[in-house]
Amino acid sequence: MPTQSFLELSDVPEPMFQRLLERSLWHRHNRTYLQTARDRTLGMLFFNPSLRTRTSMELAAQQLGALSTTIIPGQGTWGFAWEEGVPMLGEASEHIKEAVGVLSRYVDAIGVRAFATRVDYEADRSDRALKTIAQFSRVPVINLESAFYHPCQGLADASVMMDHFKGDVSRKKFVLAWCYHPRPLPMAVPHSALLTAARLGMDVTVAAPAGFALDEQVMARAAGMASQHGGSLSETTDMDEAMEGAHVVYAKAWAGRAAYTNADEEAALRHSHEAWRVTENRMRRTDRGVFMHCLPVRRNVVVDDAVLDGNQALHLDQAAYRLHAAKATLEYVWDVLPTST
Ligand code: CP
Repeated sequence: MPTQSFLELSDVPEPMFQRLLERSLWHRHNRTYLQTARDRTLGMLFFNPSLRTRTSMELAAQQLGALSTTIIPGQGTWGFAWEEGVPMLGEASEHIKEAVGVLSRYVDAIGVRAFATRVDYEADRSDRALKTIAQFSRVPVINLESAFYHPCQGLADASVMMDHFKGDVSRKKFVLAWCYHPRPLPMAVPHSALLTAARLGMDVTVAAPAGFALDEQVMARAAGMASQHGGSLSETTDMDEAMEGAHVVYAKAWAGRAAYTNADEEAALRHSHEAWRVTENRMRRTDRGVFMHCLPVRRNVVVDDAVLDGNQALHLDQAAYRLHAAKATLEYVWDVLPTST
């Protein structure tokens, strides 16, 4: 696996994390078109849909002087086979080993979006698709949202919060609030948001109904990071209580861990918590807290119109910072991050 891959933000050592954050904020405040990545090409494989990640990465590459190409596997490409050592007699015409081997001879970094399959928890926890691609790639791989992590979102979230709170986020109360959603969504964004807030030394509360706990290994890691950086981590099953005094309400839906691979059971569990929604009344409990969401968001299901259209909403700025964070990420994987900004 190439050393300068960007698979998960919490794996990036602290000094580099700080540099990435600093550089992302520099891009925010210096909206210039640069040539730091001239003569490079980014190739992206989107196994799942995207608006923000795809657009921000494509534009980031262009605004750094690089090229980009986006591939939707199976739509205009051959379908890929993943299993090793078996005859390829099914629909898939090309093995991922050749596909990545070829792409990594054309481009200088490969971005990958590959969501959880929700068939096998351990496979999802190990980010099998992303890691397989990284194994076969000769160039750095960027995680554009895997089964378990979304580091590009994490870096943008860290950047927007640092700017909003003028660099002083430590001990701010960050509530990661589970919300109802009609579909079983992945845990990648909440995992990365949790780890990022903990690393920034915030007082993190995860509010979710019973059966919707996040991964225990990620939680343990977040607890360690929070304590290392002067913050804290707690959990509650009471959304109203969690909102009290919050500075950030980060809303997100995710699938019920208690029935992860059983679609009917999971759906029944999830549907029993339709009242878990961010409302104006709930936001009134906060300490003039901001509302964050990675988007896309379902209005009046996850969060009410009044919150999204109100003056506490930060979600559009949050999306805007994806571009700045994407530029810093590309400079990182291509080893062209300036030593000082
Ligand atoms: N937040 C996010 O990753 O958005 P997209 O799914 O549109 O890329």
